[in-house]
Amino acid sequence: MEVAEVDDPVVGPDSLLVEVAAAGINPVDWKIVAGYLQGAFPHHLPMIPGWDVAGTVRAVGPAVVGVAPGDRVAAYARKDHVQNGTYAELVAVPERAYAKVPEGVDLVTAGALPLAGLTAEQLLDATDVRKGDTVLVHAAAGGVGSFAVQLAALRGARVIGTASEGNHDYLRGLGAEPVTYGDALVENVRGLAPDGVDVVIDLIGGEALAATPKLLADGGRVASVIDADVVKELGGRYVFVHPDGPMLDRLLQLVADGRLKVEIARTFPLERTGEALAANQDGHVRGKVVVTVP
Ligand SMILES: NC(=O)c1ccc[n+]([C@@H]2O[C@H](COP(=O)([O-])OP(=O)(O)OC[C@H]3O[C@@H](n4cnc5c(N)ncnc54)[C@H](OP(=O)(O)O)[C@@H]3O)[C@@H](O)[C@H]2O)c1
Repeated sequence: MEVAEVDDPVVGPDSLLVEVAAAGINPVDWKIVAGYLQGAFPHHLPMIPGWDVAGTVRAVGPAVVGVAPGDRVAAYARKDHVQNGTYAELVAVPERAYAKVPEGVDLVTAGALPLAGLTAEQLLDATDVRKGDTVLVHAAAGGVGSFAVQLAALRGARVIGTASEGNHDYLRGLGAEPVTYGDALVENVRGLAPDGVDVVIDLIGGEALAATPKLLADGGRVASVIDADVVKELGGRYVFVHPDGPMLDRLLQLVADGRLKVEIARTFPLERTGEALAANQDGHVRGKVVVTVP
């Protein structure tokens, strides 16, 4: 990775040109830089990574209505090809992806929310989480997990979340009952939910996902963002987060209303994006790492 001067992005008829203020880091970003997603999307080098963004609209394409230069927006700005990402001063955002940032929500907070917040909400939709459910969230202290815990609690569910002990108070603050992961996972969860849980939200895969049959109550539901094959064998849903402006709008409103917290672990200036990616790759970030553009 290197910092370089490049041409301004092309703004299509249904896109917004956004001056980037903040761009959240997600594990997918370092996975793309490492080349792990080459089979999933066409890649064009040199490329700018980054899928989350918050900033100020500089220009809009001729077909775009309802948003104007000067408006503050956020987006999960994934496109069909990997090339022009958000770790930049300017990015073109497809109209389907953006939402306006409400007053009172700062752009670092807004830039940390889109991909992880949408993933959490789309997982809860896929498993039809509702009032009275007991939901187990694996990796509950991370970017997606922190939102999944809070959004499940807002739906009226009881939430159990896995994390290392250093994050247990943090999880309690979000509304979850914490359990430690590892060898005693099943025992720990069954200790809190002797009849099993209604829903498993998997953000980690491997042994945690494989333990699902020992954790679910009869008729329980499971969804994973990690392992499509295994979760389908288990009768569950694989979720790949899709951009959704109206859903992002609702999540930003929850943040503005003080009902959804966005935990910012650390920010890095744009020229240190490589360090920001490495901090996330460490795998133990609480909440979100964000790149900022002055
Ligand atoms: N398919 C999709 O659409 C999609 C969308 C979003 C994310 N994802 C994937 O989902 C995963 C999670 O994403 P994220 O943004 O939430 O990641 P993240 O923020 O980097 O997750 C970090 C968290 O993981 C926890 N953790 C690490 N090892 C764990 C383990 N063995 N068991 C339980 N928790 C553990 C850590 O808690 P402790 O420090 O307490 O261990 C830390 O808080 C990533 O692999 C990402 O690529 C997929």
